Amino acid sequence: MNTFEVAVWADGHLRMLDQRVLPHEEVSIDFFSAEETARGIRDMVVRGAPAIGCATAFGVAVEAFRIAAQGIPASWPDAMAPGLKALEESRPTAVNLRWSLERMRPLLVSTAPREVPQRLLAEAQAILREDHEACLQMGRHGAAVLPDTGNRPLTIMTHCNAGALATGGVYGTALGVIRGAVDAGRKVRVISCETRPFLQGARLTAWELLKDGIDTTLITDNMAAHLMSQGLIDVVVVGSDRVAANGDAANKIGTLGHAICAQRYRIPFMVAAPLSTIDMKAPDGSHIPIEERPETEVTHIGGKRIAALNVTVRNPAFDVTPAELISWFVSEKGAMERPSLEKMRSLFHG
Ligand code: MRU
Repeated sequence: MNTFEVAVWADGHLRMLDQRVLPHEEVSIDFFSAEETARGIRDMVVRGAPAIGCATAFGVAVEAFRIAAQGIPASWPDAMAPGLKALEESRPTAVNLRWSLERMRPLLVSTAPREVPQRLLAEAQAILREDHEACLQMGRHGAAVLPDTGNRPLTIMTHCNAGALATGGVYGTALGVIRGAVDAGRKVRVISCETRPFLQGARLTAWELLKDGIDTTLITDNMAAHLMSQGLIDVVVVGSDRVAANGDAANKIGTLGHAICAQRYRIPFMVAAPLSTIDMKAPDGSHIPIEERPETEVTHIGGKRIAALNVTVRNPAFDVTPAELISWFVSEKGAMERPSLEKMRSLFHG
């Protein structure tokens, strides 16, 4: 199993694999402040909800070290406020970003001033370690409820990249379930949707699965319904950027169409996400903010314009799949059939 430097602490600062240039180039970039980290998140150097959460935590730590190098501030919350604001505003949908900030922020007042940078770094490292563990657990729980296909290989369709690259660099959420199945001895074939416009499926999912020797076939997003109608998909497994209290799940644009299709052809639809991706303050999916990204992502491919000049463009980066279309919700706590408010609550209480 390959692991990646998605967001790690190296030589006293944050280092992140630049996911914008994968799979053609494998280069890492170093980040020395919260503002730089926020730009890296917004520009997609790092992406994927749990990975954004890890990057945010290290971004907070690196900011504290930068400030402390000029002297311990009279008020840590005041000194950190601009950096935290930049991070908070970098991307709106993935709730892991806010979850991470909520975990880091109280430490600015509960820690002795001289120890703040080191304490924040320890917390960021803990968030990364917990993410690794959660992915391994999700993989185990999700794999256990995948359809039984007898001697026939199991064909799993996924959308976007919810792999090691989208988490702390190990296993992943949706791809963690796939890896969990492989580790449990199942013969697995993956159908990876290319995921227009940013091509996370074609560039990232295909790359990381092939590196692990997992049989992967690439399709364009508009081929998914046809394959489902032909009985060529056994199960759909995706990640999420924010799960509402009733189980509605936001994920990469295009996921909703796959879920509707899966229901039409009676194909189980699984969402895998850690507790850090659940937003119990959002009663349902209508409360999840949907990011609109730059129109050049739609009008251009690989830096080359493909769209007619002056055409109006929309680029919502996520859509919301209603809980009623989700057969399984998998977290580090287990696999839950047909998510509901009551079942989501039970993840946090008992
Ligand atoms: O825009 P992105 O690449 O950050 O979107 C990522 C996704 O939609 C993933 O499926 C989601 O974050 C789950 S990652 C484990």
